[in-house]
Amino acid sequence: MKTIKFGIIGAGLMGREFASACARWCHLTEINAKPELVAVCDKNPALYPWYQDNFPTIKQVTDDYHELLANKDVEAVYCAVPHNLHEQIYCDIIRSGRHLLGEKPFGIDKKANDAIMQCIAEHPEVIVRCSSEFPFYPPMQRIGQLLETDFFGDLIEVNSGFLHSSDLNPMKPINWKRMIEFNGEYGCMGDLGMHACHFPFRAGFFPKNVRAILSKLVKERPGKDGAMVPCVTWDNATLLCEAADPKNGNPFPLTIKTQRIAPGETDTWYFEVKGMKGCAKWSSKNPRRLELLEYTGKDQAVQQIDMGYETAFKTITGGIFEFGFTDSILQMWASFVTEITEGKPKGKFVSCVTPEEAALSHKLFTAALESWKNSTTVAL
Ligand SMILES: NC(=O)c1ccc[n+]([C@@H]2O[C@H](COP(=O)([O-])OP(=O)(O)OC[C@H]3O[C@@H](n4cnc5c(N)ncnc54)[C@H](O)[C@@H]3O)[C@@H](O)[C@H]2O)c1
Repeated sequence: MKTIKFGIIGAGLMGREFASACARWCHLTEINAKPELVAVCDKNPALYPWYQDNFPTIKQVTDDYHELLANKDVEAVYCAVPHNLHEQIYCDIIRSGRHLLGEKPFGIDKKANDAIMQCIAEHPEVIVRCSSEFPFYPPMQRIGQLLETDFFGDLIEVNSGFLHSSDLNPMKPINWKRMIEFNGEYGCMGDLGMHACHFPFRAGFFPKNVRAILSKLVKERPGKDGAMVPCVTWDNATLLCEAADPKNGNPFPLTIKTQRIAPGETDTWYFEVKGMKGCAKWSSKNPRRLELLEYTGKDQAVQQIDMGYETAFKTITGGIFEFGFTDSILQMWASFVTEITEGKPKGKFVSCVTPEEAALSHKLFTAALESWKNSTTVAL
């Protein structure tokens, strides 16, 4: 088993998810490489003990990422920091020759993303991918397999989105994800949009233009001392795009919805394809349920299939059991590690977001801002 020594920069919510995936790597049964956590960097030292107590392999903790990049043991980096830091830190990681799994949105805005893309172009020896675990749910894997056949026929429409309701409570204190200087002008699109774009982009459903409706529903929130401060990021975004069916070039509507204020939704990713011959629908609200409709000229019967633990990367878990968020994180990491060792992903829909897909999401979100500002349809 080959070992890849990893450093984490940004050891908060997502940094811990990666560390936890490393800790249960033994869950995977058919993989010939594993990550080993050797270094952790975060500005907040209160986070260090959890890592040090649980990972004896960690030999370095630091609040300066330059020190982590100077550590010769580190071969690859997971970077999960606020969006305003993506450009500088991702570029420094890539220039240091380390493979990188960076978090979305891969730059706070298009300018930052352009700089990251330039840096990637100058370092083709480094494998760089963007995080998105959504496609690794078994029903999404099945939809991916169907997209590689002619199951759907000519496309009618595709809908993809990520909805949650974390911000429904107007008294929830503000944090960096609600501040433009840290989260960016994109607001909810920067936060949630890459997840909603990953699968349609991989399927070749590229937006040709967009008309957007953006909403700012809660305009102020309690700050650090409890006093109300302005909250100016977009809460919700609905993007109606024109895309072209890759099989015949015909236009079809593609909707990308990202909402932080979606009553009744705790954390819902969904994806739906409607075609003349077949339809498929999945939502993380009911994560094992895949809905399929195959139209043969008779009844339009919707099948509801309860999928078990049918994963791209085999594990010890029995096939009848349930799959969840942390499982999707483990599968995504298995995919990234495989790309490092094998030089290619396990399959078209078994892979992390590519830098080109992240760059396309920036084009889309930038066009969406313009569309809403000027009430126009904006070409990409
Ligand atoms: N893939 C997913 O499902 C998912 C979910 C949530 C967040 N994210 C993304 O992950 C990234 C981080 O989000 P999070 O929820 O983990 O945030 P977080 O606030 O929990 O963690 C960010 C960490 O970065 C640290 N940090 C800030 N400046 C730093 C610096 N200069 N050097 C080192 N560390 C620094 C902070 O102290 C904090 O611990 C964002 O890009 C976010 O969009 C992805």
